[in-house]
Amino acid sequence: LGRIIHSHDTLPSTNERAFRLAHDGAEHGTVVVTDQQTAGKGRRGRTWVSPPGLNLYFSAILRPELPPQRAPELTLVAAVALTEVLREFGTEAFIKWPNDVQIGGLKVAGILTELSAEPERVHFVVLGVGVNLNSQPEHFPEELRGTATSVAQALGQRVPRAAFAASLWTRLEKWLDLHLETGFGAVRQRWKALSSTLGQDVLVRTDRREFQGHAEDIDAAGALLVRVEDGSLERVLAGDVERLRP
Ligand code: BTN
Repeated sequence: LGRIIHSHDTLPSTNERAFRLAHDGAEHGTVVVTDQQTAGKGRRGRTWVSPPGLNLYFSAILRPELPPQRAPELTLVAAVALTEVLREFGTEAFIKWPNDVQIGGLKVAGILTELSAEPERVHFVVLGVGVNLNSQPEHFPEELRGTATSVAQALGQRVPRAAFAASLWTRLEKWLDLHLETGFGAVRQRWKALSSTLGQDVLVRTDRREFQGHAEDIDAAGALLVRVEDGSLERVLAGDVERLRP
């Protein structure tokens, strides 16, 4: 990963650029990275605040031999690699299902996976990662100040972007290879060990519904299994969770 790097000063969105490059045949492992984004995309139609000179914004093009329904596993692979590197840099990072990475309950990084596929076959996956490395509170819009943080805020010192990116790409490649060779099992175990969501009472929001329950596990597809009041187990493949009580 990162042997071919397209590096930019500014882009609307690295995911968009990577998607176009992949469509035009760019090879597996190609990375698109930029200093700033003018239209950074978050999950569920949100924007990703992407000021210049501070943070890491990149997208990796992957061409995995996976059926499309298993593509969401790659997002969990990325969350594991990201959390490990954040810990290597000295923070106490955790994964919040499905793929937010948090320090002290505040969001420090996000992952946006986009897919081009037929029913039977993945053409390519664009794995987009944004890490707040050196943002300070004033770089975030007011409404995010209570919910977002950065590695520098957690550590009290500036984080070198190039070193962080190099560690992350190496570790991402290691986990992607392991996933390809041995399947989702090892990734799932590691994800569970790094997650703060399991064992919590949560409010779940999906496109279609909202309910409360106890987050018990993730299944082989990375879906969250939530025990609800009547005792049944709800399976949530896509959505957001919010912690109800400490
Ligand atoms: C989320 O909502 O948590 C996902 C955020 C993903 C942001 C990254 S920044 C690099 C890449 N390009 C984008 O436009 N988005 C992703």
